[in-house]
Parts: sequence; structure tokens; C-alpha cells
Amino acid sequence: MKTARLAAACLTLFTTAANAATATRGEFGALADGTKIEAVTLANDKGMSARIITLGATLQAVIVPDKNGRKEDVTLGYDKAQDYLTRPNYFGVSVGRYANRIAKASFVLDGKTYKLAANDGPNSLHGGTRGFDKRVWTIENVTSGPDARVTLSYISADGEEGFPGQLRATVTYTLNEQNELQVDYGATTSKPTVVNLTNHAYFNLSGNAARDVMGHLVTLKAERFTPVDPTLIPTGERRPVAGTPFDFRKPTAIGARIRDASNAQLRIGRGYDHNFIVDGKAGDMRTAAIVEDPVSGRVMEVRATAPGIQFYTGNFMDGTYFGKNNRAYRQGDALCLEPGTFPNAPNNPGFPSARLNPGQAYFNSMVFAFRTR
Ligand code: BGC
Repeated sequence: MKTARLAAACLTLFTTAANAATATRGEFGALADGTKIEAVTLANDKGMSARIITLGATLQAVIVPDKNGRKEDVTLGYDKAQDYLTRPNYFGVSVGRYANRIAKASFVLDGKTYKLAANDGPNSLHGGTRGFDKRVWTIENVTSGPDARVTLSYISADGEEGFPGQLRATVTYTLNEQNELQVDYGATTSKPTVVNLTNHAYFNLSGNAARDVMGHLVTLKAERFTPVDPTLIPTGERRPVAGTPFDFRKPTAIGARIRDASNAQLRIGRGYDHNFIVDGKAGDMRTAAIVEDPVSGRVMEVRATAPGIQFYTGNFMDGTYFGKNNRAYRQGDALCLEPGTFPNAPNNPGFPSARLNPGQAYFNSMVFAFRTR
């Protein structure tokens, strides 16, 4: 009898430890048209949590302890679902069908020209007028322990926003006990198409966007980047970063060179808004970036399978967006590190291909790993 009780107690202990990270399903209000939005909160035993909402499969909050154990949000975003539609800024959203720009809002695939909406000057940006960020995704699966996980899906109709083929997109967010948040995008298509799915989290490691990110130290594992034309379309060149303000091979404060007006690329981007070519083999999970806030002691490492990573320093935020905690977001208040294929790849045969054929499985995986020092 005693033995049985002891065994039961051990089992309880074991199960509790093994099931440490939890995924909890809840509500996130409704859109103006009444559509209900759901949230799933992933939480571990180390004080880290992440909230994902069904609108845009958006990473709405990421709470991480600082060096003193203080838990604060390290992402920008909105408290209300409707704000993601009326004040779109792509905060934490899942971007698709094509993250970043497609030049002149058109591309040719197998001899046929596809026309997209020009929603960024002459170009198409982040999937068009109503991209995946503005769609309500379906929760497929929610699991707790040992890792906490949620999978969402979205079916994009053939021809939606001008893209060919019905695309079935999925994203899985996984939080483990090592303070690593993994984001896995997948897709299949009914016809040849182009695809580039990524997450557009705006990070500010100071916590609750207390300070701007100019003092954040950034390391980018990239020997080269892709310079852009005045409409932010890559020229096709793969330029070495050596000797330029784009050299982040050693940890460097974002603000150290961002105002260098002698650099034409910084002038065009109003700061950093460029695709860096991640060293190593695309398809392999490798470290792409490390960001450190020396004040809070928070460090974030970004690992990615993608060939490129868009480094954007929130240059277009102008103080008219009021986010979480009623905070106005201004230029330089956050940085984005968006792993993906290169901007405008559908029009550039020299870039890694964005093509997806029926029968193939697209994937783009990334890890945001947090620690302190
Ligand atoms: C682009 C920026 C754009 C921003 C919108 C980034 O991925 O590179 O040019 O302004 O997304 O949030």
C-alpha cells in the first residue's frame, strides 16, 4: 500500500515536471464586425510566456525576465485586436503570401504575368491589401508539456491578392523550458506559386518599450547584404558588409552608425531596412543574429533556416501608433529581424527561389532564444 502511494506521488512529481510548459486557450476580444478573436498563451517555468492571437497568427506579446528577474514584454503591439486592422504596422504578425516587396507589384511565373496590388509606392508589400496578417487563422492544435505548442492554419484561395494556387499555410509556435520560442512556417499549394512566410515581431529588449533600441548591441552573421533602389527593391547586388555601416559581424550598437548620411543605403532606408544574407547553408538552422540590451541584460539570439534576414529598425514609425500600455511608438523604438527569402525574389532569377510547386512542402523555421547576462 505504502509502495503504491509512493509510486503515485513520484508519478505526480514526474508528470508535473515533465508538463512544465503550458498552453492556455482564451479570448482576445472581437473585431469591429463582431468576429471573435482567440488567444493562446504559452508559458514555461522560467517566467517566459508568449501570447499568440488568431488574427494574423500574430505574436501579440513575449514576456521575458531581465537580469534581475523582472518580467516585461519585449515586443511592440496592440491591446485590442481591431487596432491590428485599423492601425496596421505588422506588429508580430505572420506575413504572407509574400513577406517584403515584389517590384512593380507584378511577377512572371511560367510565362504568365501576375498582377498584385501596389500598396507601397509602385510595389507590393507584405502580401498586398489584405495579406495573411489581416486574416483570421484557425487553431488546429494546442498542447502542453514538456513544450507548450500551438498550431494555426490559414487557407488562401487560388487568386487571392493576385497570387496563383490555393495555399494552405500553417504556423507552429513552440515554447520550451530553455526560454526558446520556435516559430515554424509551412505551406503546400495546388498550383505553382511563390511564397515567403515570416514573423514580423518588433523587438525592444528594454522591456515594455521603456527606451529606444539605439543602444541595443546587434550581431549579424552576414558577410553580405542586398543593397536597394530608392523604392527599397534589391538591385540584385550582393555587397560585402566589410568597411560599411552594415558590418555587424561584431556586436555594434544600432545607433552607432545609423545617422551616417554619407551612406546612400542608410539614406534610402532612413536607417536599416535591408536584407542580410545569412552565412552558412540555407535550410540548416543556424545563428543569424544576436541582440543584447546592456541595461536590462536581456539577450536574444535568432536562429533561422532562411537564406536571408530583413533587419529593419522601425524607421517608418512616427509617433502616431499608440500601442500596448498606451505607449506612442516612434522611429527607432524597435527592431525587426525577419528571416525569409530575399525581397523581390520572384523577379530576380539570381536570388534563392521563392517558387513552390504542388507536392512540395515549403518551410521556414526560426528560433528566438532568450537569456540574460
Ligand atoms: C519592411 C519595411 C516596412 C515594414 C513595415 C519591413 O519588413 O522592410 O520597409 O516599412 O516591414 O512594417
